[in-house]
Amino acid sequence: DYTPRPEDKFSFGLWTVGWQGVDVFGPASRPLLDPVEATYTLAELGAAAVSFHDDDLLPDESTRQETLDRFTKALAETGIRAEMVTTNLFGHPIFKEGALTANNREVRRYATRKVLRNIDLAAELGADTFVMWGGREGAEHGGGKNVRVALQRMADAVNLATQYVKDQEYSLRFAIEPKPNEPRGDILLPSIGHAIAFISELQHPEMVGLNPEVGHEEMAGLNFAHGIQQALWHGKLFHIDLNGQHGPRFDQDLRFGAGNLRGAFWAVDAMLGSGTDVAYDGYVHFDYKPPRAEAIDGVWESARGCMRNYLILREKVQAFRADPDVVAAMEAAEVDAIHEPTLAPGESLADLRAEEKDIEALGRRSVGHEALDQLAMEHLMGVR
Ligand code: GCO
Ligand code: MN
Ligand code: MN
Ligand code: MN
Repeated sequence: DYTPRPEDKFSFGLWTVGWQGVDVFGPASRPLLDPVEATYTLAELGAAAVSFHDDDLLPDESTRQETLDRFTKALAETGIRAEMVTTNLFGHPIFKEGALTANNREVRRYATRKVLRNIDLAAELGADTFVMWGGREGAEHGGGKNVRVALQRMADAVNLATQYVKDQEYSLRFAIEPKPNEPRGDILLPSIGHAIAFISELQHPEMVGLNPEVGHEEMAGLNFAHGIQQALWHGKLFHIDLNGQHGPRFDQDLRFGAGNLRGAFWAVDAMLGSGTDVAYDGYVHFDYKPPRAEAIDGVWESARGCMRNYLILREKVQAFRADPDVVAAMEAAEVDAIHEPTLAPGESLADLRAEEKDIEALGRRSVGHEALDQLAMEHLMGVR
């Protein structure tokens, strides 16, 4: 039974089911979905939490307080949490040349004010995570942006935000979301690796981690499971955006499990710790777009599908890891041997150098990875 439960910690961006289908070739194909109504429906479907951009929930000043009141009532009535909040720094034309890294200083100051105000809101609602996705931070041209200095302005903005959270004694962590391109031709902090390196230059790096999105790494031809494994190794997997993507093309934001299904299997395996106890323990958050062709029934079907696919994959991954044939195949593939450090404690380089090994025999050894991968595929295809 793949019924989503609160303990599964599923979370949805309100902009996902709320996407009206506006694209570069045509206007909205679906009517406006009230974000508060969407919160009630997501709760009924089994989600535990929601996330939103300031403008998804509170698009205008005149209705701000009334909508906030309705929203907090919905949270209280359903038990749903607002676990993550993020800032729309990409929609308004003021951000057309960047927000926190725009060449224009007035734009940067306005973007910073928008972030600060939204941090207050996130704290008020008790969110854990504040996502920073710099969709417009980038360029189409070589000469129009000093990228090195733009990265410093981005670091300034994150430093100012972390300092503000410390000063206010909010319990909020930041998560940077990488993306290689779209809407800008090239976006700053394009991959998990770029973002991790950036974080190490910040004033309060312990307060800043990542919000990697499946499709964004795959748009760049990268392996998402490997990316989140590295983020886990650095202690930086603060949040996650699950969705689907078919190889390097435009950002498809398919429902989780659609697109690269094998990649999704290994992503879930990585989230569960890949057989170790270093696992992702945050919300299982979906950031996808119900295809423009769907009417509202298809919107809810796709939301159900995201959760159902995660639950199915979780079961498949657990069955794979518990299968005695898999355990034997892992043993044959020496998968656990990597836990032993290359140099034993106290061992000297002289000991290492004195060693004689049969190089030719080691070159001929079996590694058994095809057998192991076939078992994984058979679990995924449902024949084991
Ligand atoms: C995308 C991005 C965005 C961000 C979101 C958070 O698909 O390009 O995922 O949806 O996640 O805007 O700020
Ligand atoms: Mn995306
Ligand atoms: Mn995202
Ligand atoms: Mn998205």
